[in-house]
Amino acid sequence: MTMKQSWITLLFLIMIGIPYSGTVQAYVDEEGCLLCHKYPKMGRITEDGARRTYYVMPHVFGKTVHRNVPCRDCHNYIEELPHREVETGVTCNTECHSVKNPATGKNFSHKPIYDAYRDSVHGRDKITSELESDKPYCITCHTNPIYNPKEESIPKRVTDRCVICHEDREFVESWYSHTSRRIREVKRSSIEIIELCSSCHEDQSMVDRRLKAAEARGEELGKKFPVAAETYKDSFHGKVTRYGFTEAANCLDCHADYENYYLSVHEIRPSRDPLSPMHDDKRVETCQRCHEYANENYATIDPHPTKDLESNPFIYYAEEIYNWISYVVIAGLIALALFETIGRRRDGASWKLRRGSSWWRSNRKRKDRDRVI
Ligand code: HEC
Ligand code: HEC
Ligand code: HEC
Ligand code: HEC
Ligand code: HEC
Ligand code: HEC
Ligand code: HEC
Repeated sequence: MTMKQSWITLLFLIMIGIPYSGTVQAYVDEEGCLLCHKYPKMGRITEDGARRTYYVMPHVFGKTVHRNVPCRDCHNYIEELPHREVETGVTCNTECHSVKNPATGKNFSHKPIYDAYRDSVHGRDKITSELESDKPYCITCHTNPIYNPKEESIPKRVTDRCVICHEDREFVESWYSHTSRRIREVKRSSIEIIELCSSCHEDQSMVDRRLKAAEARGEELGKKFPVAAETYKDSFHGKVTRYGFTEAANCLDCHADYENYYLSVHEIRPSRDPLSPMHDDKRVETCQRCHEYANENYATIDPHPTKDLESNPFIYYAEEIYNWISYVVIAGLIALALFETIGRRRDGASWKLRRGSSWWRSNRKRKDRDRVI
């Protein structure tokens, strides 16, 4: 490219709103949305004073998992300029008109996941009442950064083997990136799952609100609902996971079905629901996945141990006895120190920090002090 040609290219790219960069831009803005939305200052202050930004960074968007999805496949409510008032927002169950599912030939959609989610205990509408918005929507758990490919280099040793037949490196690398992360099961770690679930289930004000609402509806939530997150952390599984052990059960190992795991994580149900893997009828089977020898008895061990007398007499008494032993030992130590101090003072020795020792006896004759041995 000559100097003149590249100036013309640059001018053209600025005009159509694609930033000029040396690397190939994966994302093409066919709908021209970035014409306006590429400006960093774009946004507004909402009625309740919150600052909303409408800035879409093309170089960031171009690297997300959704880079091939045209803006309006998700923002399907944007039909004209100026845009009308938003009533639904992005619901995640719409059909992509531009991306086909190569396996079925149908327009791609997250509808199967959405339907499982709607049947789950967390299912709710996108725009909903204040109370219902305690529940997570897709974007509560999924933000693009989690799914942005890590800047790890694609192993040439592997793709060289694909290129020999497919002849197009870009095709091969994009398919390699698509599958390799899933084959290697790159997903949230146990600690991240516990953090995700606890971010709500640890929130006391959320718990109180939900309990009150359930009572008003005449329903009952699970016995462990108010204490789920904190008691898990006190459990054996919770403790060993905190210290870096990765094999012990996290929230989803118990509350999501292992059959079709990636769909089941979206279909969490309370343990009183017969479809929950923690229902009385299915619990043994779930524990057996990891504890080969688990039986009915083993499965009654409480994964959310509370320390009250009623539900866990053993832990309750163990804790009480342990506490009493600590009190007695500490009281004994203090008493011993006191008696010793009184006794030594009576002998004329007193407490002074000097030359690495603490007990000194005055010696009036030598105007000096002897160390007590
Ligand atoms: C001519 C400039 C322009 C173009 C082109 C444009 N927008 Fe916008 N967009 C705006 C402005 C201005 C706002 C802020 C409107 C407001 O606050 O009422 C906005 C707001 C939005 C919002 C936020 C709406 C809200 O109230 O929450 C979305 C989503 C959006 N645009 C998507 C798109 C999509 C998708 C396209 C491409 C099909 C597009 N825009 C094309 C100017 C534009
Ligand atoms: C995979 C679906 C998806 C694609 C593709 C997508 N967006 Fe979005 N966008 C969302 C979601 C989800 C939100 C968060 C707001 C919501 O949940 O309704 C959002 C928020 C926005 C907002 C802020 C609106 C607000 O109410 O705060 C703007 C503006 C926007 N997108 C513009 C774009 C533009 C321009 C493109 C194309 C370059 C694009 N989006 C592509 C899903 C998408
Ligand atoms: C309570 C949190 C939560 C909610 C809500 C949620 N998900 Fe998920 N989703 C997960 C977890 C956990 C995984 C398993 C993968 C992982 O650990 O990252 C997952 C996996 C996925 C995957 C597979 C990703 C991959 O690359 O393997 C897709 C697609 C997905 N979710 C879409 C959705 C959609 C669409 C919705 C809304 C209808 C939704 N999720 C709601 C937690 C959630
Ligand atoms: C020996 C030659 C050969 C090698 C090596 C090879 N492929 Fe293929 N690949 C093919 C042929 C032929 C097809 C189409 C026929 C079929 O589906 O079996 C195909 C189909 C595909 C498809 C499906 C495309 C579509 O649209 O249906 C993908 C994706 C793919 N290969 C990716 C790869 C990747 C990634 C590698 C390297 C890890 C690889 N291939 C290695 C020959 C090869
Ligand atoms: C955005 C907050 C939020 C997140 C994140 C969240 N939950 Fe929930 N969860 C709720 C709310 C709110 C309810 C109560 C629903 C109701 O009142 O019926 C609930 C209910 C439940 C219930 C059933 C309680 C009952 O007694 O009916 C289980 C089990 C559960 N969640 C497990 C999980 C697990 C496991 C995770 C992590 C993957 C998780 N939750 C993540 C908010 C959340
Ligand atoms: C070893 C399996 C196991 C693990 C790990 C586990 N739970 Fe549970 N969970 C259970 C069982 C069993 C119950 C029912 C206990 C009862 O009612 O006696 C339950 C009950 C609950 C409840 C009350 C609603 C219901 O289904 O009865 C919530 C909410 C909950 N767990 C959330 C969590 C969260 C959040 C985590 C992770 C921080 C977690 N659980 C980890 C087994 C587990
Ligand atoms: C994802 C695998 C997994 C699942 C599911 C699971 N556990 Fe565990 N659990 C472990 C691991 C790993 C350990 C620690 C080392 C060991 O005992 O193998 C452990 C330890 C325990 C311990 C402590 C000591 C011991 O080994 O007996 C108890 C008690 C326990 N689990 C109960 C349960 C119960 C009850 C269930 C079913 C509700 C369950 N677990 C489900 C993986 C799991």
